[in-house]
Amino acid sequence: MDLKSLIRDIPDFPKPGILFRDITTLLRNPDGLRYTIDLLTQQCKDTFGKIDYVVGMESRGFIFGTPLAYQLGAGFIPVRKPGKLPAAVCCVEYQLEYGVDRLEMHEDALGSGSRVLIVDDLIATGGTAAATAQLVQQTGSELVGFAFIIELQGLGGREKLPDVPIVTLIEY
Ligand code: PRP
Ligand code: ADE
Repeated sequence: MDLKSLIRDIPDFPKPGILFRDITTLLRNPDGLRYTIDLLTQQCKDTFGKIDYVVGMESRGFIFGTPLAYQLGAGFIPVRKPGKLPAAVCCVEYQLEYGVDRLEMHEDALGSGSRVLIVDDLIATGGTAAATAQLVQQTGSELVGFAFIIELQGLGGREKLPDVPIVTLIEY
């Protein structure tokens, strides 16, 4: 299936100069959604083996991370924007393609020694994924890799990440 044909390009969103890769058109397509989750699952099984926890970032990381965790027989851990998680959190600041923000995760979410996979819809500058990796590594668990539906190449994203395998389904 041609997944790229299901992604809609929106120029100048959310700021002038940004070409936004809109995944809502992929999500609304039943065959496209099923194919994407199945392909992501297969590639993650082949690349990473046993995973204890999938960590997904608010908000689009939740969309792909939860069905992937289900398929892998793993738990899902949400990483959220500030002030949303109710129990004690660890936090980290990060740089977006279009802004600065902070991410938080429950400090007791990951047991030390767990095998953890970080999942998001898209990697651009890598700021979000690198920050999430810091959160995971603070807990003493083992970061085994990353999985993204989309990689925007040429923004230096993957160079910011720790040296672990990265699965991507679509590259621009
Ligand atoms: C988007 C996207 C990634 C991040 C990638 O999220 O879903 O999480 O940007 O950019 P980076 O590689 O430059 O860090 P956004 O912060 O727009 O939030 P959203 O998922 O709530 O829309
Ligand atoms: N997140 C960061 N950059 C993005 C882009 N160009 N399209 C969609 N989501 C993004």
